[in-house]
Amino acid sequence: MFHNGSDSAQGAEAVITKTTYLGWDAVVKSRPPKTYRLPELDAHIRSSRTRNEARIMHEARNAGVRTPCIYDIDLKECSITMERMRGEMVKDHLDEHPEDAERVCRMVGECIAKLHTARICHGDLTTSNMILTDDGDICLIDLSMGCTRAETEDIGVDLRLLERAFTSAHIELEPAYDAMMDTYYSIVPDAKTIRRKVEEIKNRGRYT
Ligand SMILES: Nc1ncnc2c1ncn2[C@@H]1O[C@H](COP(=O)(O)OP(=O)(O)OP(=O)(O)O)[C@@H](O)[C@H]1O
Ligand SMILES: [Mg+2]
Repeated sequence: MFHNGSDSAQGAEAVITKTTYLGWDAVVKSRPPKTYRLPELDAHIRSSRTRNEARIMHEARNAGVRTPCIYDIDLKECSITMERMRGEMVKDHLDEHPEDAERVCRMVGECIAKLHTARICHGDLTTSNMILTDDGDICLIDLSMGCTRAETEDIGVDLRLLERAFTSAHIELEPAYDAMMDTYYSIVPDAKTIRRKVEEIKNRGRYT
């Protein structure tokens, strides 16, 4: 997952660095200061995203959704030290093994259904923020934009984002996407309401 064998990766906001924690393979996700923001505002954004991410990871785990174990949180540095997952990004797996897409997508559908049934939304549901672990699980990462006590609207937005991200990243995998959503809707208790909400959000986008 750390491309070209390097020990760190720079996302839009965060820096991910390989480390160890009491002998365990770990990564540190830290949010360095952004100089283009007012310093007080910047400190507030960085620490609240860090806190939110740790909280949502924990809540998701309580709901039976795999997320990396949290080893340490440093609110001053705005960093989380967590379990380093062994596996590959779902995005890469789908690109490299389209023949396995339907199976993996059904697992993703089940995972998101568990999350949403617990009224947790992810906030950035893309196949880059999911890891297919070496032991065959789906693990969700990058939950800093997530929320708890999610309303149907939040869940709808999560799914709409997933659809957009999935269809642009994996144009040729439409049947796998359909399999993912079939699994999802067969598990969530209020499938009809959610379907209606997703349609409504799509139509909104069409006319604005
Ligand atoms: N716990 C982990 N174990 C293994 N790899 C991880 C872990 N957390 C993050 N990574 C790797 O680092 C990348 C970036 O992590 P993450 O998505 O949390 O940060 P980000 O800065 O929000 O990235 P983005 O640019 O997608 O917004 C992931 O795609 C993954 O490859
Ligand atoms: Mg990410």
